[in-house]
Amino acid sequence: MARRERIAILTSGGDAPGMNAAIRGIVRCASSEGIECFGVEDGYTGLINGNLRSLDSRSVSNTIQKGGTILCTSRCPEFLEYEYRNKAYNVLSAYNIDALIVIGGNGSFAGMNQFSKDFNFPCFGIPGTIDNDLSYTDFTLGFDTAVNTVVSAINNIRDTMTAHNRACIIEVMGRHCGDIALYSGLSGGAEIILVPEMKLDINGIVKKLQKYRIKGKNSSIIILAEGVCSCIDLKEKILAKDNSIEIRTVKLGYLQRGGTPSMFDRVFACRCAEKAIELIINKEYLSRVIGIKDNKIFDMDTDKALQLESKFDYELYNIAQKLSN
Ligand code: F6P
Repeated sequence: MARRERIAILTSGGDAPGMNAAIRGIVRCASSEGIECFGVEDGYTGLINGNLRSLDSRSVSNTIQKGGTILCTSRCPEFLEYEYRNKAYNVLSAYNIDALIVIGGNGSFAGMNQFSKDFNFPCFGIPGTIDNDLSYTDFTLGFDTAVNTVVSAINNIRDTMTAHNRACIIEVMGRHCGDIALYSGLSGGAEIILVPEMKLDINGIVKKLQKYRIKGKNSSIIILAEGVCSCIDLKEKILAKDNSIEIRTVKLGYLQRGGTPSMFDRVFACRCAEKAIELIINKEYLSRVIGIKDNKIFDMDTDKALQLESKFDYELYNIAQKLSN
């Protein structure tokens, strides 16, 4: 009797809400196709060290609503070296694994792509990062949840800033990408949104804050993407121009990476999972990444996907500018 096909799943890089929903979706779709699943603990580090465990439909029960990743994750610079990728390949061969699914971001996909090329090994990527910094896809898993968390924080901070007639700089994550700042700033009604894709203009910021004060606004929210500078640095720069502005800072940090995934991230995760299993069954490709465009799930060659230019939404940014009066 032919042996059952086997796949391995790992989560890599920063965790993102929806990763568990994706793992669960993969395991359940695979199981209904008679494919066996193994979960790799701690991302590429666990793959190199042979930390694999069998996953079945029951082992992913009660996980769709959980943030973080049940498989745990890591940042693994060793995977850049062939020697360690070779170790990982030996582990997958020892377990008779036929394909690997990686849920992660840019760096994780680059590692996956190289691994696939080194050993002609079928690898499939599901975009999982709160940063939304993968150009080939409209959204990444976890971004929607993270933005909702930031918006809820803005609401709370707005209350107390209004009570005291203050301005507040809220620093958000995103690495070199301004999407968390842009989407949360627009939907949270921020007065100023600062992203690394636009030049920082301190004089302009100070003028705006002064204008808002004259116009009678009793609070100002400045959403600052971490890729621009730190909230402490920005506060100092503003006060150096006008020290009469009463300004506070909040760095939201890891708060925005945890938490139960939103409906969007759960549905997106389930759709990506189903697509990954479809690709594995069809056996057409060696290295593909899955994404969403105009609400349609699609897959594309990993090399091509990683070469695409940044997709910052200047239209949305301009709308935010218009609405911030
Ligand atoms: O990539 C996700 C992310 O949360 C970024 O927004 C942030 O810059 C980085 O990870 C933080 O990384 P670490 O968890 O290693 O501190």
